[in-house]
Amino acid sequence: MAIVTGLPAGLILERDAIDADLRRRQEGYGRSPRQRIEQDRVEVLAGLRHGRTLGTPLALVVQNRDHENWAWGMSAWPPDGEPSGKGTKAVSVPRPGHADLAGTLKYGLADTRDSLERASARHTAVAVAAGAVCKALLATISVHVEGTVATEELERRIDEARAERDTVGGVVEVRATGVPPGLGSYATKEDRLDARLAAALMGIQAVKGVEIGDGFALAELRGSQAHDEIAEGLRRTSNRAGGIEAGVSNGEGIVVRAAMKPLPTLMRPLRTVDLETGQPAEALVERSDVAAVEALAVVAEAAVAFELARAAREKFGGDALGDFVGAWAAYLDRIPWQPTP
Ligand SMILES: Cc1cc2nc3c(=O)[nH]c(=O)nc-3n(C[C@H](O)[C@H](O)[C@H](O)COP(=O)(O)O)c2cc1C
Repeated sequence: MAIVTGLPAGLILERDAIDADLRRRQEGYGRSPRQRIEQDRVEVLAGLRHGRTLGTPLALVVQNRDHENWAWGMSAWPPDGEPSGKGTKAVSVPRPGHADLAGTLKYGLADTRDSLERASARHTAVAVAAGAVCKALLATISVHVEGTVATEELERRIDEARAERDTVGGVVEVRATGVPPGLGSYATKEDRLDARLAAALMGIQAVKGVEIGDGFALAELRGSQAHDEIAEGLRRTSNRAGGIEAGVSNGEGIVVRAAMKPLPTLMRPLRTVDLETGQPAEALVERSDVAAVEALAVVAEAAVAFELARAAREKFGGDALGDFVGAWAAYLDRIPWQPTP
């Protein structure tokens, strides 16, 4: 479940558009058959009437259809009847790279499943639904966000890894166009748009690196090569900064990249220690993706859309959509900048 606050009233949402993003998250090369079980669809519990936001918190739910197989094992209340389905036996062999050990120790849990299921990226389904809502808001001010992956090379690496019962990670890129100058601020680190995007991307499971614009490559360049000169019409001749200077959008496209580590559930398990016996053991093996890089592109797109929508709301305010769009239009009248068509 996600509760999205701060949406202006009067924003039209399309269920198909939200469900299409949920489907994109589930597809992609290297994902497990579990994705086919789930077939996600968004439900709305509050904040929407006849497809139009009411200006109040929007409550989104994406059911996990696989839950019925875990109804006894993951029951919120002490379950009735005999154990049945999945998750009935405690798991004591933590996977390196997942939440199993750290979560179990931190919370004093007996079964690693108590930490690993909550840490799971299943959580990203409803985040994608919230991102789709944010994309609809951004579209009203001509901002568009898209996450992509270089698929050919990725598919080859996934095939090789699957054959060796291994996993892979990869890099995704998110671009946002039409972002006006002036979103974010240099006043505090919490205001900086680059810091917020980095935190949003790092907040996604398995993301271990984030770049804004040319990021790490800039460290190798001289200043004369690294910065984006300002030309007539206040346009830049390059965009190595990825559309952000001093924590503020500068009117160029926003470009961010996120690096995903290889997924930690391996069909050929790594070595671990059994928490019950203290003896060496093999880590938990269960149905899992070989890679989720294409899914990450969709999740990262949602995270960027969420942060940009938040920053746009800070800049343009308005609890009715017309006020929000009106403030944006008035701002564009004031500054010598127009979105590139
Ligand atoms: C969309 C998506 C799908 C994922 N699917 C799996 C999976 O099937 N198996 C797995 O072991 N990890 C998967 N992960 C990664 C784990 O959730 C993640 O590695 C784990 O929660 C530990 O967190 P950390 O990698 O951020 O340290 C996925 C991550 C994302 C973003």
